Formats: sequence, structure tokens, C-alpha cells
Amino acid sequence: MNTKIIIAIDGHSSTGKSTVAKQLAKALGYTYVDTGAMYRSVAWYAMQKGMVVNDELVVDELKKSLSDITIRFKYNKASGIAEAYVNGENVESQIRTLEVSQWVSKIAAISEVRSKLVEQQQQMGVNKALVMDGRDIGTVVFPNAELKLFMTAPAEIRAKRRYNELKSKEEKVTFDEVLKNVIERDRIDTTREDSPLIKADDAIVIDNSLLSREEQFEQILSLANKAIS
Ligand code: DC
Repeated sequence: MNTKIIIAIDGHSSTGKSTVAKQLAKALGYTYVDTGAMYRSVAWYAMQKGMVVNDELVVDELKKSLSDITIRFKYNKASGIAEAYVNGENVESQIRTLEVSQWVSKIAAISEVRSKLVEQQQQMGVNKALVMDGRDIGTVVFPNAELKLFMTAPAEIRAKRRYNELKSKEEKVTFDEVLKNVIERDRIDTTREDSPLIKADDAIVIDNSLLSREEQFEQILSLANKAIS
């Protein structure tokens, strides 16, 4: 019988981590958890509750409200996606806007936010059979994960992908805005004090600039099968 493992997928924003993580979980019959959606959910909540005032985040107020935020995922059979809910409200599409992207890295740098979410993420792994993607999964959430991947690609390539995605949802954005956001998120994610984005020593690097989605999936599935057997 195959052993059940934890697969940690970390990397820069817009590297297609969630797409491949989702495909992999489906192929293995594992649960998939998008931890970026959890940080995005907190950002969305803060914006909704007026905690962004005059272009500043009211950090103390957010810290005090953390116990009021319940994040859950519910599988939507029709879309095939585990959608994010905040206090019972489906926020799956609201958390993907550029506006939320502009605040989320600042929110993810707050230690109190991280410890709340990391604790929930560790609970999700008690039975293993999990594919989780984020920035600190292989380093902080599951340092003993059996397979760790670190995905990357140049900022321009990632911004182009993100721009096309937002455009397909008819968001009014320019390529320069998206590129600026990608570069700024990289900067905040890699330089924050608490759990910065770094490659775990034992993570396998996947630069997907020149890989098609299919090639990338085949490569990752074969690594997963090796780790499982
Ligand atoms: O993967 P994403 O772009 O949806 O993530 C949104 C933000 O959340 C990203 O700027 C970094 C942060 N994040 C994090 O700090 N730790 C994680 N495990 C996942 C995401």
C-alpha cells in the first residue's frame, strides 16, 4: 500500500503553484489547500471592515479582530474548487482582485496573523494525504514534509500570466500595474521578518519559465510518485 505523504509547494507569486498543486492533489486523491487564499481572506476581511484608512492598514485593530475571523474551505463540485469562506460568506472571487493583492503581503507580514493561520494549516495535515501551497509550507508549516518543491520564474513572465488571468476576468488593469505588484510582493514576501519566502534546504527547485503546464505536471507527478513509493 502507498504511504500517505505531505507535499509542500512554495515559491514566488504567480508561478502557477495553485494550478499544479490542484492537479496533483486530484491525481493522487489528496486534499489540496491554498494557503494564499487564507491570507487573502484576512486581507479581504480587513478591507471590508474599514481597517484600511487613508491608504494605511490599522494593524492593531486587525490583531484584535483575529478571533472574529473564521476561514473555511468548501468543495464546489461544479467548479471543482475548494472555495474560501469567511464567516460563512463565499469570498472565492473577491479575494482574487488586484486590490486584495495590493494589501495581502502587508497582512501576511503580521506575526499574529501568521501564527493563527499556521496553526490551522498544521491541523489540516494531521492525516497527511495533503498538497499545500504557499510561501512557508516547507520551512515553517511542515518542515518534515516528505516532498518539497520550490517554484519560480522571472517576474516579467509571472506578471504576464497574472495580467492575462485578470484580463480574462475583465478586471481593468495594465500590465505595468501587475508587474509592479508582482515585484513589490516578492520584495515584501522575501524580506519580512517572520517566515520570509526562502527555499527550504531540501526543496527541489522548479523554474517553469520554459515548461508547458503539461510538462510541469508530468515532472511534478513523477517526483510525487517517487516520494510516495
Ligand atoms: O499565493 P498567493 O499569491 O495567493 O498569496 C497571497 C499572499 O499571501 C502573498 O503575497 C504572500 C502571502 N502568503 C504567505 O505569506 N504565506 C503563505 N503560506 C501563503 C501566502
